[in-house]
Amino acid sequence: MLDTSVVLSGLKLDNPVIPASGTFGYGNEFREFYDINVLGSFSFKGTTREPRFGNPTPRIAECTAGMINAVGLQNPGIEAVIAEELPRLRTFFHKPVIANISGFSVEEYAYCCERIDREEQVGLIEVNVSCPNVRHGGMSFGTSPEAAAEVTRAVKAVTTKPVYIKLSPNVTDIVAIARACEEAGADGICLINTMLGMRIDMQRRRAVIANTMGGFSGPAIFPVAVRMVYQVAQACSVPVIGCGGVQSARDVIEMMMAGATAVEVGAANLVNPYASKEIVEALPAEMERLGIERLSDIIGVVA
Ligand SMILES: Cc1cc2nc3c(=O)[nH]c(=O)nc-3n(C[C@H](O)[C@H](O)[C@H](O)COP(=O)(O)O)c2cc1C
Repeated sequence: MLDTSVVLSGLKLDNPVIPASGTFGYGNEFREFYDINVLGSFSFKGTTREPRFGNPTPRIAECTAGMINAVGLQNPGIEAVIAEELPRLRTFFHKPVIANISGFSVEEYAYCCERIDREEQVGLIEVNVSCPNVRHGGMSFGTSPEAAAEVTRAVKAVTTKPVYIKLSPNVTDIVAIARACEEAGADGICLINTMLGMRIDMQRRRAVIANTMGGFSGPAIFPVAVRMVYQVAQACSVPVIGCGGVQSARDVIEMMMAGATAVEVGAANLVNPYASKEIVEALPAEMERLGIERLSDIIGVVA
């Protein structure tokens, strides 16, 4: 009997497949396509203290083997998520959900995490530190070990659920940032977020994206994500959630061999709304092909 289950800091998932934040909303749109209870879990849209309208359009650019987005954390704000999205989610999703939280100050992260920690359906809090720190010239929290650690400490002080810090790949030393978060009390690390990219509209002689630059993601970034997951899993002892360019059950297994305990699927959901479901369904056959009985046995097998 094949076993696809994995455990993230005490949270048991039937399988390691998790739609990534920002590509699955709060689950509601996808329930029209399939029963989302087949998933291990999903990470809901990055949520901030205040509602956000997001960036001006155009905020999407298509690329070879990927896409650039500059959505700008459009979300209804933490109060609306608690009052409207989570009660609705409960009616059709019967598993713990991953709460993805963003902030523009340490206080905002702490506030949102404290609020969401009290919600019964939240099984794990994922803290996106790719956001700019408005008090420090807009530098992303995730590009400095000290700033990432400060956010981690502040969030851990006000929460009871596992806290995973979601890292930005736009750094020179990902291991230094991951280690700083682990030392500050992170229960796990999630990586990678999007890579900074840019396209140019040559007719108009200006950037395609209204904000000039945006986050590049999709299959093109998969090898970078595997590399960073491997480096962080080697250096840290907390679990790692791998993310970046995953499109298939084979990619899930490769990411797990690099050291991921669970795997998030992002842009693929936007290309094919059934992508995450199809990956879940394809896992057993792929396990058989590779002689894997228990998926958790292969986590970090590549030394
Ligand atoms: C349209 C879009 C919106 C996103 N919004 C968020 C977000 O709100 N919070 C977050 O942590 N990551 C966000 N991400 C990043 C994804 O969760 C993921 O880390 C990244 O896209 C890499 O995975 P992929 O290559 O499978 O897309 C977003 C990505 C896309 C494409």
